[in-house]
Amino acid sequence: MTIYLNGDYMPIEEARVPVLDRGFIFGDGVYEVIPVYSRRAFRLTEHLKRLQHSLDGIKLKNPHSESEWGLILNEIIKRNSPEDQYLYLHITRGVAKRDHAFPVPPVAPTVFVLSNPLTTPPADQLQNGIRCITVADNRWLRCDIKAIALLPNVLLRQAAVEAGCAEAILIRDDTFLTEGAASNIFAVKNGTLLTPPKDNLMLPGITYDVILELAAANGIPFEVRKVMKSELSGANELLLTSSTKEVLAITSLDGKPVGNGKPGPVFARLHQLYQTFKQDVMRK
Ligand code: PDD
Repeated sequence: MTIYLNGDYMPIEEARVPVLDRGFIFGDGVYEVIPVYSRRAFRLTEHLKRLQHSLDGIKLKNPHSESEWGLILNEIIKRNSPEDQYLYLHITRGVAKRDHAFPVPPVAPTVFVLSNPLTTPPADQLQNGIRCITVADNRWLRCDIKAIALLPNVLLRQAAVEAGCAEAILIRDDTFLTEGAASNIFAVKNGTLLTPPKDNLMLPGITYDVILELAAANGIPFEVRKVMKSELSGANELLLTSSTKEVLAITSLDGKPVGNGKPGPVFARLHQLYQTFKQDVMRK
């Protein structure tokens, strides 16, 4: 496995970061996850735009132009063997004496890119859906930044795993849905897809955008609006989206079946549209 670190390509075993890196000390950095299908990065411009938004959010200068990123990412894709990969980009504020305030003068950021094989969800999850729990969203108020400081998300996901579930669905103020610990969430009520609007309380998902575009292009009614906690329990279907999971049906919530407890027709349609879209746009 070949990675990129600060200008060099090397086997992952050789990659080293100093212990005073602010990513290690403070979680002071941002990241991106980009799927690669048939050796082509999916929605690269959109992912790089979101990366810029995250960097702006933590006041860190982008170390690379869009074309430089393109070259680095293509080189990593080329040097790793799977046809389908996911790229992990990680940028921290660099190495400096431990002090919460930004280093003066600024130091060089740490830039790390990793490729992993992209494994889409197993047949069992596609056929039967996944189990989820709802938990209180106790994160900060800048969840639109894809920050590497993921301790709240780690603890929330772990709570789901300990409850025998695949994902935690996050509820703010005991009132409304934000997203999953590492995914966006959609509900289906009477054939209409419902999902919260992008704001500071959730990550603006790239897959979320794809799903809404596919719904719009294929006559699936949708509403982007606040989704109340009370609406989740009565939903006909619940869906989860992310770059690595694509789209999955949530068939059990807090131990109770969602709808009839099986993946529903809106999931089936969107999953099929997503596969066709991938095939047409990425593999041809
Ligand atoms: N996570 N919300 C959160 C908190 C996430 O971490 C993610 C993705 C998403 C979905 O965004 P996208 O569709 O752009 O992948 C929503 C990635 C996959 C991760 O951390 O591994």
